[in-house]
Amino acid sequence: MGRFNLLVFFCSLSLLLCLFPHSASAQLRKNYYANVCPSVETTVRNVVRQKIQQTFVTIPATLRLFFHDCFVQGCDASVMIGSSGAEKDHEDNLSLAGDGFDTVIKAKAAVDAVRGCTNKVSCADILAIATRDVIALSGGPSYEVELGRLDGKTSTAASVTGKLPHPNFNLNQLNAMFAANGLTQADMIALSAAHTVGFSHCSKFSNRIYNFNSQSPVDPTLNKTYAAQLQSMCPRNVDPRIAINMDPNTPRTFDNVYFKNLQQRMGLFTSDQVLFEDQRSKPTVNAWAGNSNAFNQAFAAAMTKLGRVGVKTGSAGNIRRDCSVFN
Ligand code: HEM
Ligand SMILES: *[C@@H]1O[C@H](CO)[C@@H](O)[C@H](O)[C@H]1NC(C)=O
Ligand SMILES: *[C@@H]1O[C@H](CO)[C@@H](O)[C@H](O)[C@H]1NC(C)=O
Repeated sequence: MGRFNLLVFFCSLSLLLCLFPHSASAQLRKNYYANVCPSVETTVRNVVRQKIQQTFVTIPATLRLFFHDCFVQGCDASVMIGSSGAEKDHEDNLSLAGDGFDTVIKAKAAVDAVRGCTNKVSCADILAIATRDVIALSGGPSYEVELGRLDGKTSTAASVTGKLPHPNFNLNQLNAMFAANGLTQADMIALSAAHTVGFSHCSKFSNRIYNFNSQSPVDPTLNKTYAAQLQSMCPRNVDPRIAINMDPNTPRTFDNVYFKNLQQRMGLFTSDQVLFEDQRSKPTVNAWAGNSNAFNQAFAAAMTKLGRVGVKTGSAGNIRRDCSVFN
């Protein structure tokens, strides 16, 4: 290569890196463990199934854990670290239900008990597989999960600040935070439908039902009947441990009813309801409310993209022996 060609080569390489900052994920692939631990997906699936039989919370807890892991320093199981001052101690970790952590710990133990698999599969990949499984086992779409993530070597509560969306976010704030992770508005709308399962504490939306603003005590974008129900389940000074279903209609099924709820103004958070109220996102909400196949496809595609965020390879990571402790 001449000097000019070399220059062109490096310029286009850096251009490519600018255009595709998340291309580190190119190293992920399906069947990554086909040679070292071919049974990994079956083993994880069995643990997840058993854990769901014990408690339904396994489903939302695991799904949310994966999201919070990926948005803070990438999908590297850094959220699993149990030492004090780690990511899980940030106030936004909130209420990450213990059953998500427990699912990964149990699945890791089951995988490590299979001959040949011991210390071969990362915690980050086990969390990605378990997440795919809880979605499929609650009625959502199934998809082949890309694997090959390593576990991260750092986890600090400080690193969480500003990385996770808040329930009072508007569309611009949501789009900006998802874009920072390589996700489009459509990906963001699809992923928000994860709120078709699981629970929220009253404090997360109490601003919408009490003293909303000087014009209106209740958020005008909230269905009046639903607002009254929320007020009765979440009275002022409610026990802070009380959590309510986020999808009041089909709380245990992963489905597109989330979008139908938004059309009835029954989105629980401002960040949910704004997807219907803002004209830029409303057409997508309506499309997926009316077409569950289209939603399922979009959700599976968006989960795959979420799973590529900030993936660690090479010396940036390792395979943790205990998911909650650095090696
Ligand atoms: C779009 C912006 C988002 C915001 C503002 C948001 C906010 C929240 C909040 C405030 C809660 C209630 C937490 C509590 O009170 O315990 C919650 C729960 C939950 N979120 Fe999100 N979230 C967002 C996106 C996502 C995404 C992308 C996923 C997964 C793909 C997700 C999955 C969940 C699940 C499954 C729960 C229920 C957890 C449980 O029942 O243990 N969320 N979210
Ligand atoms: C999350 O952080 C809070 C403090 O902000 C802490 O009290 C809580 O135990 C943490 N949750 C988990 C699951 O570690
Ligand atoms: C409020 O919800 C009820 C069903 O619970 C529905 O019939 C009504 O149309 C909704 N109102 C609005 C403004 O969407």
